[in-house]
Amino acid sequence: MKIIIDTKEKIAEMAADRYVRLLKEKPNAVLGGATGSTPLGLYAELSRRCKAGEISFKDAMSFNLDEYVGLDGTHDQSYRYFMNENLFNHIDIDINKTFVPSGIDTDSASDYDKAIQAAGGIDMQLLGIGNNGHIGFNEPGTPFGSETHVVELTESTRSANARFFESIDEVPTHAVTMGIKTVMNARSVILMAIGSAKAEIIKATIQGPVTEEVPASVLQLHPDVEFYIDYEAAALL
Ligand code: PGA
Repeated sequence: MKIIIDTKEKIAEMAADRYVRLLKEKPNAVLGGATGSTPLGLYAELSRRCKAGEISFKDAMSFNLDEYVGLDGTHDQSYRYFMNENLFNHIDIDINKTFVPSGIDTDSASDYDKAIQAAGGIDMQLLGIGNNGHIGFNEPGTPFGSETHVVELTESTRSANARFFESIDEVPTHAVTMGIKTVMNARSVILMAIGSAKAEIIKATIQGPVTEEVPASVLQLHPDVEFYIDYEAAALL
């Protein structure tokens, strides 16, 4: 486990450096994408570097972690829309090689793991972390052996995400997410956390027991994981 602590601007740059190294070594790498506020600085940095010719995604593939059930990719709160707006439209990736679980055809959730395997597996999975320790939408109590599946969102997650919707009633009640096992199968993982609201859960994730009650704590068992944490989120370490 590697832990990098710096300002939020600097951790975005260092995480971008990690992408540069990976894509230099393996231009057709399979990337695991994440949504939320946390990766925005990283995505802006990757977009800037791609425009400057410092990195290319043209042979890469991408699989995102999760999607809201009931929202299709044209909905402005869907995670497909988020990825297009914040990353894919600004880099040279082939959009046909970017995948987000379907929030509409949820019967196909288990096909997502098969598609990842058929692509050769994820080389580097990016993660944020929920205030309750979720990774993807794997809420506390999710079995570590889970693959891509539909979940009911906790009230804590729905209220954390209500800021993006007109009201909490509009926040979907369910999502489809890669499972914990899907995430753990990635050859490398990078988790980013920013801000004091994440300080307690970062401490529990890195220094607490490995428990399904703190889904991200499973990463202590991953052979190649890096945490990129800003000073506020690292305050209790
Ligand atoms: P955030 O979300 O980046 O908006 O804090 C992270 C998450 O819930 O996984």
